[in-house]
Amino acid sequence: MCGIVGYVGNREATPILLSGLKRLEYRGYDSAGLALLEELPRAVSTSNGHSAELVTSTRLIIEKCKGKVTDLEEIAANKPLHSTIGIGHTRWATHGAPSDVNSHPHTDQNDKIAIIHNGIIENYAHIRDRLIARGHSFRSETDTEVLAHLIGEFYSQNHNLTESVRLALNEVVGAFGIAVIAADDPNEIVCARKGSPLVIGVGNDNEYFVASDAAAIIAHTRQVIYLSDNEMATVSRSGIKTRTISNIEITKPVEVIDMELEAIEKGGFAHFMLKEIHEQPRTITDAMRGRVIEEEGNVILGGLQNHLKDLRRAKRLIITACGTSFHAGLIGKYMIEQYARVPVEIEYASEFRYRNPIVDDEDVMFAISQSGETADTLAAIREGKRKGSLALGIVNVVGSTIARESDAGVYIHAGPEIGVASTKAFTSQLTVLALLTIMLGRMRHLSVVDGRSMIRELLQIPDKVQQTLDSTERQITEIAEIFKDAANFLYLGRGYNYPVALEGALKLKEISYIHAEGYPAAEMKHGPIALIDENMPVVVIAPQDDVYEKVLSNIQEVRARKGHVIAIATEGDEKIKELAEQVIFIPKTLPVFTPLLSVVPLQLLSYYIATARGCNVDQPRNLAKSVTVE
Ligand code: G6P
Repeated sequence: MCGIVGYVGNREATPILLSGLKRLEYRGYDSAGLALLEELPRAVSTSNGHSAELVTSTRLIIEKCKGKVTDLEEIAANKPLHSTIGIGHTRWATHGAPSDVNSHPHTDQNDKIAIIHNGIIENYAHIRDRLIARGHSFRSETDTEVLAHLIGEFYSQNHNLTESVRLALNEVVGAFGIAVIAADDPNEIVCARKGSPLVIGVGNDNEYFVASDAAAIIAHTRQVIYLSDNEMATVSRSGIKTRTISNIEITKPVEVIDMELEAIEKGGFAHFMLKEIHEQPRTITDAMRGRVIEEEGNVILGGLQNHLKDLRRAKRLIITACGTSFHAGLIGKYMIEQYARVPVEIEYASEFRYRNPIVDDEDVMFAISQSGETADTLAAIREGKRKGSLALGIVNVVGSTIARESDAGVYIHAGPEIGVASTKAFTSQLTVLALLTIMLGRMRHLSVVDGRSMIRELLQIPDKVQQTLDSTERQITEIAEIFKDAANFLYLGRGYNYPVALEGALKLKEISYIHAEGYPAAEMKHGPIALIDENMPVVVIAPQDDVYEKVLSNIQEVRARKGHVIAIATEGDEKIKELAEQVIFIPKTLPVFTPLLSVVPLQLLSYYIATARGCNVDQPRNLAKSVTVE
């Protein structure tokens, strides 16, 4: 989704802003832009008319275009821009189609102020009408331009930039992360947030950065200040002043981000997605590190230690999430209900937040989110908290909004996930859910012996994922070649592997744009079977578990209608070889952990089909990595 980067210091701003924007490309965007303040020295005659004095004035320069950051880079290369302060943006269209004119930055009515904005101003139409009545005219269809004009209104009434921004924000309803500069205030960037993340980087030598995502500034500094909702900052070469939007001065701590630059680079892989798929043996290990006590068959999740009592007496757990995280949550439900015997409800956060859900103080909510910024998930836990529930997070991005707003939580420690299609975060979420299952189980009915054998098996999963990668990747490239032109795909699974079927289908549609549906295998006969003919590849997840025989019958049903079966099966399964056209083998494990293995070939299959079709795997069209609007 939209990205923000800003710089004020003593170096040339353009390359810093462009490289920052490139680091944000993974979030998904359709246009990019820059605003810079260029200092113009000019000679002015002195009063005696003999000598000339050098003064400077500042000019606001805006460059923006529909397309990629490289397009913007080309524009900038042809017009050398000299400036030590500026803001840059990648836009993901909400109000108004992707176009040059709708791209950010937007300016006010006097072209003095430039603003970049993530989020949505909900009452923009009302404000725009009011401003039009006062003589304003607008160039774009965006809500952001309206905010620029509103700030401009206050600025033209002689309020300083910070105050103008503050007064304008007091009138808007909606979500925003913004950065603003003004030609007449060449030393400062004013930024603010409500519902859209914003971080300020503290560099060396009086330089400062602003970003919507630490990845944009990590090459320059690890020292950051996270703004919270309804807070704003005035960032200049002489420091940072923070206040609330209601004008109370505040002091914010400087925190150190623990993120290596290599973690956000491709490291020799063709795409981030492929790198992240291959990182899984390590990221699964990282999710378990220091958390299991093998001898006691138990698990310690540090972040939940203060809430063990609530977890022990919880009558019900509610999991809420979106996208891939929702699929992990669905598997979590199956795990927890089987081993801990606590009822678990799982609901899409977008549904939960608006339907007056039944929640009380005997429930415990879990929000699962890779980014920790998904607007719907955030709103869902706020709703749960309002109704008295304890709200816990299972989050990847340290310091993200969900991580900070939940009562407590567990980090999955997958490291930065850059590919838009989530892969390693999914398996790390599953690992944490498995740990949680063991912990909840041991609080209730799970014996030490059973806990121990689950842990022993879980500890072997990273090696089994590695084995899966090593033994299936080449075969999957061949399968991808065969089926890359299919118009539709069906994914089937049962029990723990039903959500994996959903996830496999989601991965394929996200990055290859092939229509794919995931279904519980037995439900096929209630509808999707009508679609099966010789053109339909059907991926069936059929490990040797307690529903194995049933899934074999489903395979027969597909074959009888000439569908092409690609089976994911347990190694050594000779029987399935006779039934399926293609068989991809995964190592044997406990049924509860099979999703950690069975999803890996599905990730690879979608990756290789998408690359065979020439798709932009890391930045699929229309998608965003972190969806900060509802
Ligand atoms: C977007 C991403 C998905 C992700 C979903 C939920 O749609 O493209 O990959 O699964 O958001 O995101 P979250 O960060 O909350 O897990």
